[in-house]
Amino acid sequence: MIKTLGILTSGGDAPGMNPAIRAVVRTARNHGARTIGFANGFDGIFDEEIIELNDGFVTSNMDRGGTILQSSRCKRFYHEEKRTEAFHRLREMDVSGLIVIGGDGSLHGARALHQLGLPTIGIPGSIDNDIWGTEMCIGVDTAANTILSMVDRIKDTARSHRRCFLIEVMGRNSGYLGLISAISCGAEVAVIPEFRPNYARILERMNKRFAQTRNNSTIILSEGVCHTEEFVSRIGELENSDKLCREIRKTVLGHVQRGGSPSHFDRVLASRMGELAAIAILQGESGSMTALRKGRISILDLDHTLGRKKHPAMDMLRLARNLNIDFGDPVEV
Ligand code: F6P
Repeated sequence: MIKTLGILTSGGDAPGMNPAIRAVVRTARNHGARTIGFANGFDGIFDEEIIELNDGFVTSNMDRGGTILQSSRCKRFYHEEKRTEAFHRLREMDVSGLIVIGGDGSLHGARALHQLGLPTIGIPGSIDNDIWGTEMCIGVDTAANTILSMVDRIKDTARSHRRCFLIEVMGRNSGYLGLISAISCGAEVAVIPEFRPNYARILERMNKRFAQTRNNSTIILSEGVCHTEEFVSRIGELENSDKLCREIRKTVLGHVQRGGSPSHFDRVLASRMGELAAIAILQGESGSMTALRKGRISILDLDHTLGRKKHPAMDMLRLARNLNIDFGDPVEV
């Protein structure tokens, strides 16, 4: 029986982490458990940075982006002896269950504690949407909306000056944000890590648009492929690239994509995941994560999901193709 439940947020922050914390705290309390938060990710366990999570505290912060618990990419947790130390510290603090909100590395950390014998459940939170087994992670929808509103603004200038804009979006190993925002922003090209960019074809398309005096072009570039300078220099190696290289303007959206008040979708997704995570752990579940599958929130074994590469959905690729978005060529294996 869990009397004290721990919770932490780890890795890159994502909008919606706060509503998830709120749902965990309230659900746990309604089932007779108290929740304490560890500040600054897994580091908070070692540094004993503990926050008593009461109702007022979690409620007044749910409209804020980031995480009220703060987050870190905890280097200490890479070492087995440190993970064992964390396990013992949690036991000494009478924490008999832990909920970890974060991306791939954080979920690996959650599984490690489960393997040591501490009931642990993960909640996928990462704007990259790179966790296999869940259709959406917390924060993705807000980040996609932020990209959309930024690109809409950039397009005002693109249209006014007949320019081509190259916009770099986040996604360390995942092209989800790149592909989805190319679809919603009306971009001509999405350069994503799951496909090989065809620079010659991109140049030909852009030159054709200049010749037709089309008034703007947008290329979305996932940071997981390369940065904007490298992209432009690859184009610059090709013949007839002078005009494009002269006219193209580069924008790196950067961390603006991770901030902001969580969207309606993210608040509801986070609340649903937080609630189910709390119920599941209090009922004895461990070594798993919450997942959105076919519109329902379910529990998925971490052994089943971790280590598997999430590929862009086939229907999204087909949609992009039918919208004439050039997302590159298949990578030979
Ligand atoms: O994992 C989320 C993410 O925003 C990636 O898209 C990005 O590459 C990375 O985090 C940036 O990490 P940091 O904020 O530590 O620089």
